[in-house]
Amino acid sequence: MEQNTCLITGANSGIGRAAALQFARLGWRVLLGCRNRERGLEAEAGIRGQSGNREVRLVAVDMSLQESVRRAADEVGKTCGRLDALIHNAADFDLSRKTPVFTKEGVESVWATNHVGPVLLTDLMLDALKKSPRARIVTVASKGLLMHPLLKIRLDDPEFKNGGYSVQKAYYQSKLAQVMYTYWLAERLKGTGVSAACVRVTNVKIDIHRYPNLSPFMKFMYSIKSKSSISPERMAETYVFAATAAELPAGSGSYLDEHNRAVASSAYSRDPENIAKVMELTGKYMH
Ligand SMILES: NC(=O)c1ccc[n+]([C@@H]2O[C@H](COP(=O)([O-])OP(=O)(O)OC[C@H]3O[C@@H](n4cnc5c(N)ncnc54)[C@H](OP(=O)(O)O)[C@@H]3O)[C@@H](O)[C@H]2O)c1
Repeated sequence: MEQNTCLITGANSGIGRAAALQFARLGWRVLLGCRNRERGLEAEAGIRGQSGNREVRLVAVDMSLQESVRRAADEVGKTCGRLDALIHNAADFDLSRKTPVFTKEGVESVWATNHVGPVLLTDLMLDALKKSPRARIVTVASKGLLMHPLLKIRLDDPEFKNGGYSVQKAYYQSKLAQVMYTYWLAERLKGTGVSAACVRVTNVKIDIHRYPNLSPFMKFMYSIKSKSSISPERMAETYVFAATAAELPAGSGSYLDEHNRAVASSAYSRDPENIAKVMELTGKYMH
């Protein structure tokens, strides 16, 4: 029987790394999609050692750059014919950022990393996913969206080129777009062996050393927040569930909380017309 394969982006730290270890322990071949080679190799060696599974391999990818996403997809396609799970975990959420940062391809970094990159990667991996008898695409959103029930995608200016930027606004917009993308994907994939689910990540412990530029106030806020947070390992269990459960609670396109229960997203995000507009906008970024 062919070994199951998953690709997890942002797998060198936090929830992504914890999920990679859980898949490795299940005997899957695990591809670690990481932008930093050194941190990626460290994760590769660590997960191999902890799981005893040699089929854990780094795939270099910077999710903010389409050129890099294409190169990584090409590598994955050539080295393993089929993909059973694709987990879009990587995210740009540096809360110390005060002004928008644009990638060398000219796209605002949060929008590029958290939304455009995952949509492109899915597109490029679809043939490999369709070779699996039952494949799953897992996107990642945030429970923090509950604090922004009226949030909409800025269809006329998703990159804040006309002002109004805050990294929080950019981040939640990108996560809302991922929720809407998952619904769109689920519809589009009906009748294939591939389905989609979105995980609503709750408050999960973060390694604060990864964000050295945070202000003392933000560090203090994180230390307060961490008192009620769950571990990356615990949250990763939902990634594994979302990728492997034969049936998702509400069928294809489920939005799942940390207890693997289906939860509802905002009325705006569920509206098919809004979803179509967001995906039309997203399509304009693909080159
Ligand atoms: N922790 C929470 O409380 C929380 C709450 C809601 C949602 N989430 C979501 O959960 C997911 C995992 O977060 P986490 O808590 O595990 O954070 P984390 O430990 O900071 O992990 C983020 C990962 O994304 C990677 N990444 C960032 N930009 C990238 C890029 N351009 N290309 C490739 N990889 C990139 C990072 O790699 P580098 O090492 O190269 O930076 C890192 O591996 C994210 O989608 C996040 O939005 C987390």
